[in-house]
Amino acid sequence: MSVGKIEINGKVHEAPIIIGSEGEVALDISKLRAATGMITLDGGFKNTGSCTSSITYIDGANGVLRYRGYAIEELCEKSSFLEVSKLLVDGNLPNSSALSSFQDQIKKASSLPEGVKSIIKSFPKSAHPMGVLSSALAALSGHFEAKDYGNLSKADFDELIPTMMGAVKMIAAYNYRHNKGENFLDSKSDLDYCSDFINLMFGEVDKDIAEALDVLFILHADHEQNCSATAARVAGSAHANIFASMASGVNALWGPRHGGANQKVIEMLEMIEADGGDYQKYIEKAKDKSDPFRLMGFGHRVYKNFDPRAKIIKKYCETVLNKLGVKDPTLDIAKGLEEVALKDPYFVERKLYPNVDFYSGIIYRALGIPTNMFTVMFAIGRMPGWIAQWKELLGQGMAISRPRQVYTGETLRTYKDVESR
Ligand code: ACO
Repeated sequence: MSVGKIEINGKVHEAPIIIGSEGEVALDISKLRAATGMITLDGGFKNTGSCTSSITYIDGANGVLRYRGYAIEELCEKSSFLEVSKLLVDGNLPNSSALSSFQDQIKKASSLPEGVKSIIKSFPKSAHPMGVLSSALAALSGHFEAKDYGNLSKADFDELIPTMMGAVKMIAAYNYRHNKGENFLDSKSDLDYCSDFINLMFGEVDKDIAEALDVLFILHADHEQNCSATAARVAGSAHANIFASMASGVNALWGPRHGGANQKVIEMLEMIEADGGDYQKYIEKAKDKSDPFRLMGFGHRVYKNFDPRAKIIKKYCETVLNKLGVKDPTLDIAKGLEEVALKDPYFVERKLYPNVDFYSGIIYRALGIPTNMFTVMFAIGRMPGWIAQWKELLGQGMAISRPRQVYTGETLRTYKDVESR
């Protein structure tokens, strides 16, 4: 084992160097505080690894994304969302009988208790679907027997994983129907996952839409230790139940700096269109540090060359729009914006490229999905990734996530009563 050396106040401390299977290196500083009394400080975890993981590999410099060793490009071309889900949670591609029993288990889990349906119906139609999704997922915990989440059996995982995959699809579709003032439809056992979801929403299946969704869900299925996966892992590390842990993932994803960006991108493109299509003006706004405006769908913590998912989605966007016969002016604005930004020194120097959210909203819009549901679509796709991350964490017997801090507040002072304040 190789070691790194850290010199603090003239004393040298050794820390093991951990090398990943793709040659990524990390300095294991977990014993540093015991030896030195010092913690490491890294707000936003920009240079902190929280775990070792064998699920997803990203090489941000070269735009590489692989699930369990398989290139995202190959999975999008040859696999299906449920097969990829099984790959993520189990580690290997399933054989046909394992895949079909996984499909059957999800179909059996594709209904919601009346209480959860009532919770969805209790929300105002204006409520954001991500809030409804998180609430309904958490509420579902009340309909399953309590388990020891620090000591789950294989049978528990076999029950819980399809339950979550079925539930996220049902909650999303039912919330859509509720917002439209339409009655809830039953899941159809003869339909595949995406076709069933389309049918639950629209009451009919369009093969092209279901196929497009399948690819989008594969692209979103996992992305290693991102904000929402970390949120799901942190809750899971406390041995919170799966419903609470996945709701934590949903809540973190909702933010506009993360999955919520797909909604913000379309709103931005529509704003630029309404403003006469002058995207140069918005490039200048994004560069202006006194202006809070950022180019939504641009930039990524890890990808500093290109986001391979954005590359696939951009190509796919044109295919889907052509196939559905949709002409969308926001696609031209998005392309123009990208072209100008990629030549602008501000974006070039900071290595800012379109991310997964830049073009996905244009496809969702063409598929008839309302804008405020875009992030829910992301959450459906990401569910197997969160589950895989949570399962891996429990399998590793990971300690509870509990970072340290450097306190910068007042030192000890004495209580003053109201009159003397
Ligand atoms: N528009 C304009 N400037 C940007 C943008 C942007 N979209 N993104 C980053 N920058 C600038 C920052 O102002 C900063 O400039 P500075 O060095 O002069 O201060 C520099 O680029 C680095 O940006 P950070 O915010 O420090 O990078 P970080 O890794 O913390 O953030 C993030 C990454 C959150 C994705 C950021 O690029 C962003 O806010 N993008 C827009 C929102 C978005 O599209 N989010 C979806 C990400 S993909 C996903 O989560 C699924």
